Amino acid sequence: MERLRLDPPALYLDAQGNVPQFESVRQARTELRVGGSAQAAADAGLYAEAVGGLVFGDSRDGQDPRHFLTHPTASGTHALTLGARLLAGMPPTRRVYLPTPSWSNHQRIFEEAGFEVGHYPYFDAHERQLDVDALVGFLCRLPDPAIIVLQASCHNPTGSDLSRDQWDVIADVIKALGHIPFIDMAYQGLGDTLQNDNYGVTAMADRGVFTLVAQSCSKIFQLSETRCGSLSAYCPSAAQAQPLARTMQSWTRMDAPPASLGVVARILSQPGLRKLWQDELNSMRDRVGQVRAALHKTLCRLSPAWDWSYLTHQRGFFSYDPALHPASGLAEAAALPDPRIVSASGRLGISLITERNLPQIAHAIAGASAP
Ligand SMILES: Cc1ncc(COP(=O)(O)O)c(C=O)c1O
Repeated sequence: MERLRLDPPALYLDAQGNVPQFESVRQARTELRVGGSAQAAADAGLYAEAVGGLVFGDSRDGQDPRHFLTHPTASGTHALTLGARLLAGMPPTRRVYLPTPSWSNHQRIFEEAGFEVGHYPYFDAHERQLDVDALVGFLCRLPDPAIIVLQASCHNPTGSDLSRDQWDVIADVIKALGHIPFIDMAYQGLGDTLQNDNYGVTAMADRGVFTLVAQSCSKIFQLSETRCGSLSAYCPSAAQAQPLARTMQSWTRMDAPPASLGVVARILSQPGLRKLWQDELNSMRDRVGQVRAALHKTLCRLSPAWDWSYLTHQRGFFSYDPALHPASGLAEAAALPDPRIVSASGRLGISLITERNLPQIAHAIAGASAP
């Protein structure tokens, strides 16, 4: 049986079952050692500009740059925490709504910031697909403007993403009803291209909707030990941006810059390194897609009566199948090479599956979901 070498919090294994390190990151680290710490300090501005470019894409083109703010954070989770703190200082919105399902730390982060946390419908577990009508209906029925946490590009634990058309509908509703979108985006480029994966952010900014974005570089640069991220805000007016910019500046004076800031700034600003990184990111995305296709094919052969199509419709590191709920005994079953491949809630860790452990995992899943 293959032993998974998984050092938390790394979540992606390559074809050999190892946690890979990007060559672009290695090269940038070497260059930084030569440049020294003065260079790293100068990189803070470069980082905010370059990461802001990833987050906002071409929605910044031709716009007043004062409307787009980006602040470096220690991680995507740290960005959520700072964003929650920022919103807590912007009364009167006291309620936050999270998708069902979401990540457990969302609830904790917003409760600690003093919000009442509710949940909106997102995934129809019976149909194994997104229920956008239920989502939109829910937003329309909210009695007051609220903060709506949305997840971009395969960030939802089900691996089910909103399409462009669905983002457009949601952005229209949010604008019409005065809700505040807070988009969590840790996997940009791992669902589709970098340019397509931030569509939700651009859909909001193009409509002039005040939007916060918690972004993470941890997965997309494979920075498992020295994570970094950013908190961005799109403000429809310079007047609204001013106090937020001041708050972000006060954080800069208080917090040490994230450890990998210089590495990411260098990669994004040097065309050769950026191209190398994009190729590495694309390969990671393609491999996850290949694993999905191979698992789908194997399961269709082992258990043809079952509908496995969700595996290829969902994207990214996670899939969700209610049949894999712990009641099935699968998570505890010795049949799995590693119990982390299926979480207690039935989430499947696609990015932990390799060519070698796939047959064993497929047999375990087919056995657990047999009618
Ligand atoms: C809810 C949520 N958002 C974002 C992230 C990604 O950010 P990071 O790994 O940089 O904290 C995580 C990671 O665990 C997360 O749980």
